[in-house]
Amino acid sequence: MDTYATPTSADRLIVASASPRETKIWGRRLASLLEGGELLALIGDLGAGKTCFVKGLARGLSLREEQILSPTFSMIQEHRGRLPLYHIDLYRLEAVALDDLGLREYLFSEAVAAVEWFERLRDAENLARLSVRISYATANHRSIEFSASGERYARLIERLRLG
Ligand SMILES: Nc1ncnc2c1ncn2[C@@H]1O[C@H](COP(=O)(O)OP(=O)(O)O)[C@@H](O)[C@H]1O
Ligand SMILES: [Mg+2]
Repeated sequence: MDTYATPTSADRLIVASASPRETKIWGRRLASLLEGGELLALIGDLGAGKTCFVKGLARGLSLREEQILSPTFSMIQEHRGRLPLYHIDLYRLEAVALDDLGLREYLFSEAVAAVEWFERLRDAENLARLSVRISYATANHRSIEFSASGERYARLIERLRLG
């Protein structure tokens, strides 16, 4: 199984984004490589662009990006596109465990799970995942760092790199 990562399998890709549009394009590009069952950990401050990235992801899964809301209102949103997408936002929780809220069902499924504020998940450091860390550069510039825990995600980054 690919649920837990081995420490030797990390890989990394850092790209720049000059606009929300470019961030969405990276989301779309990633979506085109997904097969279902992936765990995407979105990390970055409030306003970094995590939801913006998920909108691009949604487009790439043949969903309308307007359906992607900042899930302040509900913590888990399910969408049905080319693959099912679970959009999860842990912002309102100080700390959460894998066994809370039936999270395992969402994180380990046939769907794509995109989790904003993944770092609030307490016992997740060993989970195989693709981390997408977005940081501020200027008002419109962001740096997006993709990093893999687990072979499956290292291969995904390799394909992302090739374009
Ligand atoms: N390069 C960029 N990438 C993503 N968002 C950007 C960028 N430049 C400016 N923004 C703005 O930053 C905000 C990001 O908001 P959002 O995606 O909701 O952040 P988060 O989900 O990380 O809190 C939006 O208002 C967006 O228009
Ligand atoms: Mg958000």
